[in-house]
Amino acid sequence: MNHFELRDGELFCEDVPLARIAEAVGTPVYVYSSATLARHFTVLREALAEAGVRDPLIAFALKANPNLAVVRTLAKLGAGADVVSEGEVRRALAAGVPPERIVFSGVGKTEGEVAFAIEAGVAEINVESEPELELVNRVAQRLGKRAEIAIRVNPDVGAGGHAKISTGKSDSKFGVSFSEAERLYAKASNMAGVRPVGVACHIGSQITDLAPMEEAFGKMRGLVQRLQAEGMRVERLDLGGGLGVPYFNQPEPPSPADYAAMIARSTKGLDVGLAFEPGRMIAANAGVLVAQVIHVHERAEGRRFLVLDAAMNDLLRPAMYDAYHDIRPVRLRDGELAAYDVVGPICETGDTFTRDRALPPLHSGDLVAFMTAGAYGAAMSSEYNSRLLVPEVLVRGGEFAVVRPRPSYEDMLAREAPAPWLA
Ligand code: LLP
Repeated sequence: MNHFELRDGELFCEDVPLARIAEAVGTPVYVYSSATLARHFTVLREALAEAGVRDPLIAFALKANPNLAVVRTLAKLGAGADVVSEGEVRRALAAGVPPERIVFSGVGKTEGEVAFAIEAGVAEINVESEPELELVNRVAQRLGKRAEIAIRVNPDVGAGGHAKISTGKSDSKFGVSFSEAERLYAKASNMAGVRPVGVACHIGSQITDLAPMEEAFGKMRGLVQRLQAEGMRVERLDLGGGLGVPYFNQPEPPSPADYAAMIARSTKGLDVGLAFEPGRMIAANAGVLVAQVIHVHERAEGRRFLVLDAAMNDLLRPAMYDAYHDIRPVRLRDGELAAYDVVGPICETGDTFTRDRALPPLHSGDLVAFMTAGAYGAAMSSEYNSRLLVPEVLVRGGEFAVVRPRPSYEDMLAREAPAPWLA
């Protein structure tokens, strides 16, 4: 459920017409709904509580939407943060996430990033390999600290909406095998700079079938039990993120209640705290990208192009993963549906959002909204073709605020410096 709806043929975000935001801020622009963010976080928390999962750490995966206002909205509800870089640690802290709710994942943390995270006092560093374990141990000792770590396991279960976002097969770069995990856990227990507190996994993203998750979590359960049987303390099991959302062209994702019930089944009787790293399921349906139609270009031989002022640099998912986003007119016109190729102005064919999409009549100057764009939308935007970074707006009820302004062209140029020999 989300808070984007048509009222008298006009698309609203909560109580604000999207057209009003477009007029005030210009297009393209991302618009997020506070109520939808809150709802998704709360629905997950309540589903877990109802299934009997006590006091989970729900660490929002910042990579899905790192905007400070978005993260702060969630932090105020008690969300933690799953981060993968120093930049994300800094964002989580700046947004008010307490360090004891920050989990640091990622296969290539640098020495500087590890030091920063340890100094900040993050709850857990998810260690993805033996060299990384040694790095964390070394850095923590240098700082006179003992870092709490979890070993990230690769459960060798494939899942996810696209090969590029599946992370759980043994040939992917993430985590270590089960046998390695046992060896590294024992090794970590004897290191002065780290204290192993648990194990972690994450098998992929946009997962619409619970079976692979349940398979992976069953294997994780076995690992926890083996470690405990060997006399090791395991306090936390981090089950990652990955639950899919409806993009309209894919199978309906499982409900939070079914997901929570599966979690409860998989972890029954285990005496560990659970952590989750959801990104998409919280943010995706809480955001849209609003764009304006520049031209409708009808070719003599029949193709009809809807040329927008948004491009692949603003919303990369269709170009990168052939992702489907529902496209809706912001003001609905009467008339027959027609097939459009929806494209941006960037000079490559990949800058095509969709082909042959049936849409209501649209004219130059009309606004359209790409739905389900709140996760991995603005987060993956760039200035390709020297287009200004897309702005972001947060709505709450009848009010809205620009939470990342559109830079000016002067801002863009001022970030660069000439080489001295070119002066
Ligand atoms: N935890 C870890 C360790 C992850 O790598 C990810 C996502 C998450 C949590 C959050 O997963 P989620 O709940 O959002 O599925 N750019 C791609 C998605 C990449 C996901 C990468 N890892 C897309 O636009 O579909």
